[in-house]
Amino acid sequence: MNTRLQHDLISALRDPYHSIPPTWLYDQRGSELFEAITRLPSYYPTRTEFGIFDAHRGAIAAALPAGCLLVELGSGSSRKTVPLLQSLSAPAGYVPLDISADYLADAVEEVRARVPEVPVHPRVADFTRDFDLPPGLPPHTRRVGFFPGSTIGNLREGDAVVLLRRCRRLLGDDAAFLVGVDLEKSPEILMPAYDDPEGVTAAFNRNLLTRINRELGTGFDPEAFDHEARYFSNPPRIEMHLVCRKTTTVEVAGEAFTLAAGESLHTETSHKYSLAYFQTLAAAAGWSLDRHWSDPDGYFAVLLLCGDGGG
Ligand code: AVJ
Repeated sequence: MNTRLQHDLISALRDPYHSIPPTWLYDQRGSELFEAITRLPSYYPTRTEFGIFDAHRGAIAAALPAGCLLVELGSGSSRKTVPLLQSLSAPAGYVPLDISADYLADAVEEVRARVPEVPVHPRVADFTRDFDLPPGLPPHTRRVGFFPGSTIGNLREGDAVVLLRRCRRLLGDDAAFLVGVDLEKSPEILMPAYDDPEGVTAAFNRNLLTRINRELGTGFDPEAFDHEARYFSNPPRIEMHLVCRKTTTVEVAGEAFTLAAGESLHTETSHKYSLAYFQTLAAAAGWSLDRHWSDPDGYFAVLLLCGDGGG
């Protein structure tokens, strides 16, 4: 029994505004569906960020300190990590942090096989809560945080600042932080990225209910919920919702909850930042913007932050 999931679901259902943290979207099947999303023609973020790393690999590597320790938040992106590690000058090590031990083990194996000269120090950690670096890291090495994929956009603004501040403290005064940020753009581009004609995002969203049924024994009918992507301009963001088509009653831990037709469960927010605004969030956490790289359309940016007062 997943007590954290149960707790989050009960809080969501007790509150008149039903909202559940997006982490629960990513079980095995959810991660597979997300992978499929990243290959959709209408889902621009992943290929755009890859394009930026490809086009600016040399400049990005040159902007990072030689002999640094690369600390990645999440490890689902070895496709981005391996080329980055290969282009860095004599990296001291790689520290992947991930909430899933299985995912972490796969990523470690992959990196060890493909970049055997770089020592890997994995750590199971939930970076949306409190976390530490693993013990036994090489001393006196500059640390570079790596947080690609615009995952930071899934956090509430305040939580993003808390995370950035925590990283600032863990990585030290002379640290740098390389973060992928999805930028503000028109809803004509955003909406199809989160409501694709192929229906993969809808399946990804509905899979949350399948997962909840499996892990908590609830009786949701996923097909009785419509996937909805909603655009908001202030602050710029897309929200994913599961909208109930007919009155639904479910029982969670002996408590009955009824959703009326039209009521929704808010499952994820994806913030779209302007560079200037993200800079103010970073500044509130003690980071200043050193450089950034973007694509020709200005859809996505890779930002290099450095510690205020650091080198
Ligand atoms: C996890 C941030 C890469 O918000 O775009 C994709 C997750 N949700 N389609 C995003 C997601 C729906 C995604 N990231």
